[in-house]
Amino acid sequence: MKAAVYYETGGPDVFRYEDVPDPVCGPGEVLIRVEAVSVEGGDTLNRLGGELSRVPHIVGYQCAGAVLEVGAGADDLAEGDRVVTVGVDGSHAELRVAGRSFCWKVPDGLSTEEAACVPVPFGTADDCLFEFGRLQAGETALIHAGASGVGIAAIQLAKRAGARVVATASSSQRLGRLSALGLDHGIDYTSTDFVEEVRQWTDGRGADVIVDSVGGTNLQKSLHCLAYRGRCVTFGDAGRETPSTLDISTMRANNQTLVGYFLGAELFLGTRAHPMIAGHLADMAAGALQVVIDRRFPLEQTGEAHAYIESRQAFGRVLLVP
Ligand SMILES: NC(=O)c1ccc[n+]([C@@H]2O[C@H](COP(=O)([O-])OP(=O)(O)OC[C@H]3O[C@@H](n4cnc5c(N)ncnc54)[C@H](OP(=O)(O)O)[C@@H]3O)[C@@H](O)[C@H]2O)c1
Repeated sequence: MKAAVYYETGGPDVFRYEDVPDPVCGPGEVLIRVEAVSVEGGDTLNRLGGELSRVPHIVGYQCAGAVLEVGAGADDLAEGDRVVTVGVDGSHAELRVAGRSFCWKVPDGLSTEEAACVPVPFGTADDCLFEFGRLQAGETALIHAGASGVGIAAIQLAKRAGARVVATASSSQRLGRLSALGLDHGIDYTSTDFVEEVRQWTDGRGADVIVDSVGGTNLQKSLHCLAYRGRCVTFGDAGRETPSTLDISTMRANNQTLVGYFLGAELFLGTRAHPMIAGHLADMAAGALQVVIDRRFPLEQTGEAHAYIESRQAFGRVLLVP
């Protein structure tokens, strides 16, 4: 098969478009012909400095396509079924093998491209807001990087749960587009201090739940606008800062919680997250949730796609099409 591979981590120009051996479908696994790859924020970070499981390495968490083969124990799926899959790597390719518990059938009424964008951002957003953030109707949710894949999912889920939703982004233009998805208040953090703005917008109280995908100094500042009994969920390092020590000295007096989150752990170690994500796919097919697809690139142009994302112009998801 053809795949976008790299031999060492680095900038988007590390990608090569090459022939590599086809993946082999084992027991409990499914082989798919990839039709749409959603480039996840973690894919760009892994390409920049992640681990190489083998060389050449095929990066990528999430893609969708048609089933070509099912292994023993995965036979509730059949050849030709449309599925979306998640895995630790291997999405940037013409073929992908995934474990059955990391596959979801694409419901009728939902395109394969849209489905390719659902499990990781929506599963992560749902868990950060509700399972770990314990968000309640009437509370305030601060969602960082609102125009990101996870951000766009979190804004919709928080709004439909009856929360007041505030988000940050790097331009007012990006924030303007988020209003239609349920954003109540946007903060352009390049010109406005989000700590002060969140405090003002909540009459000094702060945000009850903060969904922080940026990390570094952004995470430190998040703790400074967290409400009494507030919950801050850290799940990413999109800001690309070298990890530094976090000052948690203000948390105890305010009965606050800081929690780490990794969707992979929920999918590997339990069964709860799988039906939760199936629910998002069903809601998407019914028009109750939406994904935003910014641009499509052929798989041969994976480097250009990653460079476009890192130029901060993408709003929502960028797809690769093999
Ligand atoms: N723990 C988990 O289970 C889990 C699951 C999903 C994602 N994640 C992590 O969450 C983060 C976001 O993922 P995503 O898929 O939502 O990302 P994405 O769609 O690629 O968006 C990333 C966003 O980060 C913002 N950003 C802030 N500083 C940045 C910088 N220095 N360079 C590039 N972008 C920067 C950008 O928005 P502005 O330009 O508007 O600031 C951009 O829209 C990633 O770190 C990813 O690894 C973790």
